[in-house]
Amino acid sequence: MQPRSVIISVVNNKGGVGKTTTTCNLADALARKGKSVLVLDMDSQCNATSMLLGGERPNANTLFELLDPENTEVSPEQCVYPTFHENLHIIPNIDVTAALEVKLILNLPASFSVLRNNLRDFALKKFDVTIIDNPPNMGTFVICSLYASDFVIVPNDSGSKYSIEGLIRAVEFIKDVSKNANPDLKFLRLLITRLDKRTSISRAIMHQIREIFNPHDVFNTTIPINTTFQQAELHSKTIYKYAPKASGAAAYRKLATELISILENKT
Ligand SMILES: Nc1ncnc2c1ncn2[C@@H]1O[C@H](COP(=O)(O)OP(=O)(O)OP(=O)(O)O)[C@@H](O)[C@H]1O
Ligand SMILES: [Mg+2]
Repeated sequence: MQPRSVIISVVNNKGGVGKTTTTCNLADALARKGKSVLVLDMDSQCNATSMLLGGERPNANTLFELLDPENTEVSPEQCVYPTFHENLHIIPNIDVTAALEVKLILNLPASFSVLRNNLRDFALKKFDVTIIDNPPNMGTFVICSLYASDFVIVPNDSGSKYSIEGLIRAVEFIKDVSKNANPDLKFLRLLITRLDKRTSISRAIMHQIREIFNPHDVFNTTIPINTTFQQAELHSKTIYKYAPKASGAAAYRKLATELISILENKT
């Protein structure tokens, strides 16, 4: 039986932990495995937009319209752009979307559902997997993403010292949204990124995470530190476009396989 379609948010309130890298490369890996994939760029830094549109700016409708409470004309179909891969599409973002936050805040809590109402039915009908890249906070936009999603992946940088309490709080926050507002939502897994097994800090953090979280809360696949990700980003490309033989490419391929198998059991 085909697993049902899903919407996955990639969330961590800490910056630079690999949210965008995970969103774009996991999406590309899934597309290359035959899934039809939509990426939605919820971050007005627009890094996912840049990576999947090869540095081009969107020239028509974007996520802005889908989040604007005053929009009644533009449908989600009109905000979807093709990418370099036929199975991979994006709803891109533009920097002025950041200014919409004030409008959304003035109309809370109804605004938390704006993305859910505008995106969910369309995305579930048209795509196997939708992945939402989020900004590094737990603000209005991220809550909108959580309201619209089925699952959350939390990437976590194992390359620098970080607060495990912060990570636990982030997971608790996701579980709170699930309990109080969106019963469709489930915390899926933590993803250990930028792992360098040669360094004691990476080993210590991985050990700590495996001790505190139960095995079903952490992907078996880990993402190694690999400078090819930065080079690919500089060229506004995913790792599969830039250097498909890099170790990082193999890691996200493995993650895609693990994710497909988890979803087959859950959906
Ligand atoms: N496994 C990795 N190895 C080496 N560099 C990486 C790896 N993953 C991500 N990077 C690099 O680290 C930087 C931060 O990654 P990324 O932009 O994905 O994080 P982010 O969580 O989306 O950041 P932000 O919170 O600012 O949106 C980028 O320059 C990216 O190329
Ligand atoms: Mg990012």
